[in-house]
Amino acid sequence: MIGHVTFKNSSVRYSDKGKGNVIVLLHGFLESLHIWDNFSDCLSKQFRVISIDLLGHGETPCIGYIHTMELMAECLKSVMDSLDIKKFVLAGHSMGGYVALSFYEKYPHQIAGLCLFHSTAMPDSEKRKIDRDRMVLVVKQNRRQFVSDLIPKLFAKENISKNKNDVTVAKQIAMNTSKQGTVAALKGMKERSSKELVLKNAVNSVLFIIGKKDVILAWENLLLLATLPKQPVTVVLENAGHMGFYEAPDETVAALENFARTCYSL
Ligand code: MLT
Repeated sequence: MIGHVTFKNSSVRYSDKGKGNVIVLLHGFLESLHIWDNFSDCLSKQFRVISIDLLGHGETPCIGYIHTMELMAECLKSVMDSLDIKKFVLAGHSMGGYVALSFYEKYPHQIAGLCLFHSTAMPDSEKRKIDRDRMVLVVKQNRRQFVSDLIPKLFAKENISKNKNDVTVAKQIAMNTSKQGTVAALKGMKERSSKELVLKNAVNSVLFIIGKKDVILAWENLLLLATLPKQPVTVVLENAGHMGFYEAPDETVAALENFARTCYSL
């Protein structure tokens, strides 16, 4: 079912499927809870799966001109509190992973396991920060062009034609993200701090799903990052870029399902 929770006077959309131990899925930049449609159908056979539209994405409105990862984490907290869910496995795709780390830093006792799905604990490099400012300008001038250029780059080159429908869906979802939502997320990501210590001190298992053809986050860096937690689980996708849930759906569903089963000792 689809539901809504009020956070700072705004209505946050979430989806709630299945029964049992909970897995929460957070989408990335320019995405919405719909990128998890296939995932939540599969995972909800064994788990209760919650996904939400992060601030300024999907049907959740903007609440400011900068959406920090901490603010988005508070929004998640509101949804979980209103559903009275105390403990869950939390998986975040890219920007969703940044939000997941912020949530974990503040509310570690609520997490049964953490999954960084093509995501990192590293902050933006100085170069990336300059790129973010440039992207803000491009979005303000021509958001549609920005989206058309960006989305195909998220897929491995050889998957662009193979995953033609997924590229189209990802573009449509991205086109529906408002200019303000896009800019607020870019500024929020630019501001985020390092979460390496959060990973080092993690008392839970951390699953890293890494695409070998990811042009946003280099797989070699993510492999290094995966050495930080005490209990890492690493899955490297040979033929995926930044969109493993579309490019390698069976492998990534199985990875998350097995991980959640272990976290809940099923
Ligand atoms: C995402 O997919 O969420 C973004 O590409 C993350 C980023 O730009 O750092």
